[in-house]
Amino acid sequence: MQATARRTYDWTATWRLRLGSYLSAVPRAGLFLSQLPLGRFDTVLEIACGSARDSLYLREIGKTVVATDSNAHVIQQLDDQFEDLPNIDFRVENAAALTFRDRQFDVSFHNGFFVLFDDNAFIKELLREQARVTRSHLFFIVHNGHNETLKRKFKEKSREDTIYDLRFFRRQDIETIVRESGIPYRHMRIYNFGSPADRFLGERIKGIPNPLRGIAAHNVKALYALTPLTAAERLVCHIEL
Ligand SMILES: C[S@@+](CC[C@H](N)C(=O)[O-])C[C@H]1O[C@@H](n2cnc3c(N)ncnc32)[C@H](O)[C@@H]1O
Repeated sequence: MQATARRTYDWTATWRLRLGSYLSAVPRAGLFLSQLPLGRFDTVLEIACGSARDSLYLREIGKTVVATDSNAHVIQQLDDQFEDLPNIDFRVENAAALTFRDRQFDVSFHNGFFVLFDDNAFIKELLREQARVTRSHLFFIVHNGHNETLKRKFKEKSREDTIYDLRFFRRQDIETIVRESGIPYRHMRIYNFGSPADRFLGERIKGIPNPLRGIAAHNVKALYALTPLTAAERLVCHIEL
């Protein structure tokens, strides 16, 4: 099944321009996943990885990772830049028709992917395909529809830059999609993700070296749990299969 994205996003142009800045950002999704009590897991799949920043972090902490994206340009760039790194593969893959075996990965995730699509039927297809290749824990991270300030900001910015033309999801939207997808699961949880306090994760605050960086990075999960729903940037859906 093919579905059109909200926009004709030009991912090759985007990654030509922005790969470096995405790679230098804090791997918030990787930090967050590594701080959840998931039990032992070894293999990880990232879908629609873009910069693969979070996959690179998960590799660094000892996971065996496959980072995939349908954009051949970004995968080639990553392959060239990180060809010598063990325990990570970069692969061109269409999320709607993955070439992996059933239950091949302990954990799978994507961040900023479902937000490209308006069509719930297509999102449910994508979710079923992700669940097929996942053994234990499936995650997706989407922009938070309860954060009105952020929605307004993105709407404004999207006039200049189509990358901001994204869909926002409320908790109820996520619950409905997961339920209607029909995937069998044990538990579903939705977490807040991204916070105004993320500035404490940066190297500098107002130009001054940030002494709290290490502490903040080790406590991303706690930081996000303290963030009110209306202030969180994104929502994480965690499905235990
Ligand atoms: C917003 S970016 C993801 C950013 C990424 N999480 C990061 O941190 O760098 C969305 C990505 O989805 C990819 N994409 C779009 N349609 C896809 C599909 N059908 N299968 C796999 N990837 C797809 C695009 O190529 C793009 O790299």
